[in-house]
Amino acid sequence: MESETHILLLPYPVQGHINPMLQFSKRLASKGLRVTLITTTSVRNSIQANASSSINFETISDGSEEVQTVETTYQTLERFKSKVSQSLAKLIERQNSSKYPPKFVVYDSFLTWALDVARQHGLDGAPFFTQPCMVNAIYYHAYQGAIQMPLEEGSSISLPSMPSLGINDMPSFLHDTGLYPDVLKLVVNQFSNLQDVNWLLCNTFDNLEDEVVNWMASHWPIKTIGPTIPSIYLDKQLEDDKEYGLNLFKPNMDTCMKWLNTKEVGSVVYTSFGSLAALGEKQMEEITWGLKNSNCNFLWVVRESEVKKLPKKFLHETTEKGLVVSWCPQLEVLDHKAIGCFMTHCGWNSTLEALSLGVPMVAMPQWTDQPTNAKFIVDVWKVGVRIKLNEKGIATKEEIELCIREVIEGKRWKEMKRNSLKWKKLAKEAMDKGGSSDKNIDEFVAKLAHS
Ligand code: UDX
Repeated sequence: MESETHILLLPYPVQGHINPMLQFSKRLASKGLRVTLITTTSVRNSIQANASSSINFETISDGSEEVQTVETTYQTLERFKSKVSQSLAKLIERQNSSKYPPKFVVYDSFLTWALDVARQHGLDGAPFFTQPCMVNAIYYHAYQGAIQMPLEEGSSISLPSMPSLGINDMPSFLHDTGLYPDVLKLVVNQFSNLQDVNWLLCNTFDNLEDEVVNWMASHWPIKTIGPTIPSIYLDKQLEDDKEYGLNLFKPNMDTCMKWLNTKEVGSVVYTSFGSLAALGEKQMEEITWGLKNSNCNFLWVVRESEVKKLPKKFLHETTEKGLVVSWCPQLEVLDHKAIGCFMTHCGWNSTLEALSLGVPMVAMPQWTDQPTNAKFIVDVWKVGVRIKLNEKGIATKEEIELCIREVIEGKRWKEMKRNSLKWKKLAKEAMDKGGSSDKNIDEFVAKLAHS
């Protein structure tokens, strides 16, 4: 029988926000809801045929098709808000008179205004936080005015249920307040309209962030529903769920896997800085030498827009020891036995993926939530080391080499690997039948179905 409880989900259109929402959509569908994932025109061409047959896709306009000139961040955010508010309203109106009128909208927590659109059309809604609870809680304290911004050099920040944080452990927007003022406003305002929401859905799991999850639960109806990674890597409850299914970049599938198959167990440093970070030329050069001098095999994702920053000749010189690709099937790579460690920018998806697959990390955070994620990777979960920057803010080749060696072969390797395997087990337990996140999803589905 077809489900009558219909739910809409609206992600923010970048890879790191689409992946978790898409994965959550598949979970809801597997538990009996009728699910429509809404994408917007800026990512329309990226939907793959195999994205998932269990959910429906709808594309609405975000106005990007009309943009003629380069926009400022402010203009992009304002255009997105105004156009998507209108097109979301139209979509709901159309769906309201269909056979399966939707009951609920789950929206990316960055898109606070989506709650108003939903409610104006008779639907309820809930924010979906794609970033960890410790970062969400920090933004809440900033929203409350409990954090003085800009942060002062050398200060240490004490917040409820969190370890003491140095300035370099804080989300970058609170630190470099002048750099992205509009994004700062966006992240802090995630808490501006949550007084009467019935759910706050968070892509994390209870054991991973127990103290801060408990603290948040004493303020809001928060439910942890992660890690939202394809089921085959965790609980295997969803059949054939091997990949997210919506790539904004084209992966070099065969090249990566064939190359990895020729490498010894635990011998490869997988390096990626996610879908957004743009590193300076000098930094790219230091990474190049750091990887080479470590004498390890390395697989490095350098997006097409970044390739021009690589030192000349490098691409030809490295085929034996190293492979550079423009995008890879990251989960399959992390799951490969040849991988020894992950040098990562600590985006939250990459962090959760490494934790879920038991891979120790060399943390090289760039911006946004990544410094805070790095702090927890090293000091709380103890599954990696963090690269120190020099006085110019550069990770030098010597430091990179040192950190790679420490994680892949150093004295602490065993301890980090043991901890990684512990988190892998706990991540699986959270998503397994009856696990903390699985139960929360069940509860959400049951309440929705009976409301
Ligand atoms: C952004 C922010 O930068 C990040 O800090 C925030 O937590 C989420 O949004 P991004 O920088 O792209 O995301 O990093 P991340 O969160 O790690 O997401 C990247 C996703 O792309 C991951 O799911 C990863 O598996 C995937 N990926 C990355 C690939 O599939 N192939 C690649 O080659 C690289």
